[in-house]
Amino acid sequence: MGFDRVANYYAGMEKIVFGNDLEKIRNVHLKLINDAESILLLGDGDGRFLKKISETGADGLIVSLDSSSKMIELSRKRLQNTDLDVQYFCQKIKNFEKSESFKPDLIFAHFFLDCFTEDEVILIIDLLSQWSTKTTKIVVSDFFITKTNSISGTYQKLLTQTMISFFRVFCGISAKKLPNIPKIMNSKGWNCIGHKSLRNGFINSWVWEIKGYGKRP
Ligand SMILES: C[S@@+](CC[C@H](N)C(=O)[O-])C[C@H]1O[C@@H](n2cnc3c(N)ncnc32)[C@H](O)[C@@H]1O
Repeated sequence: MGFDRVANYYAGMEKIVFGNDLEKIRNVHLKLINDAESILLLGDGDGRFLKKISETGADGLIVSLDSSSKMIELSRKRLQNTDLDVQYFCQKIKNFEKSESFKPDLIFAHFFLDCFTEDEVILIIDLLSQWSTKTTKIVVSDFFITKTNSISGTYQKLLTQTMISFFRVFCGISAKKLPNIPKIMNSKGWNCIGHKSLRNGFINSWVWEIKGYGKRP
């Protein structure tokens, strides 16, 4: 099981629940690609973000990893008339055999880490740390529960649990609750150097850079 079943409806469902907010947050740190020669996109989905990249005139090497062949098919179609240099890999991240020579300057993970348990996110961040150089930046877009005791906190919790249950049933994701991404990134030696959020901190995009090269696993 995976995201094949929902791929065609994914963008529409997102719009119904969040309007344009996820789209806005995915693009909020787009300008970072100006300084990147090699970019890795994790769980990249249906190509909407790649299309945005193509509109900037980016000419670096882009590796797009997604375990759903249907998502990749939609992405290829969306990029048909662009010059973007994209290498697609239809693999799970744990099986991804990155070539030795590919050292991404920039990694994007938009609404990807919330598919996993905290233990799995820790393993993924360890992998990313190994794949990174000391100047690599990681942009993570994801949800965060902020005000747990307020009405909006209760709404955030309810909505995330509903989404996680939906994707567990229809796509087989392993997450049972939202992983605490900032906590994990900090514990793994990554430093937040940029942060934008919408809906009172519920929808986020963080930019991370390694604190000290020596701290990488
Ligand atoms: C919630 S969707 C987000 C898609 C896109 N990044 C976006 O923001 O619209 C998660 C994506 O991650 C992919 N995915 C899930 N588990 C994966 C894994 N283990 N390895 C690689 N991709 C995975 C899914 O196929 C899906 O396209």
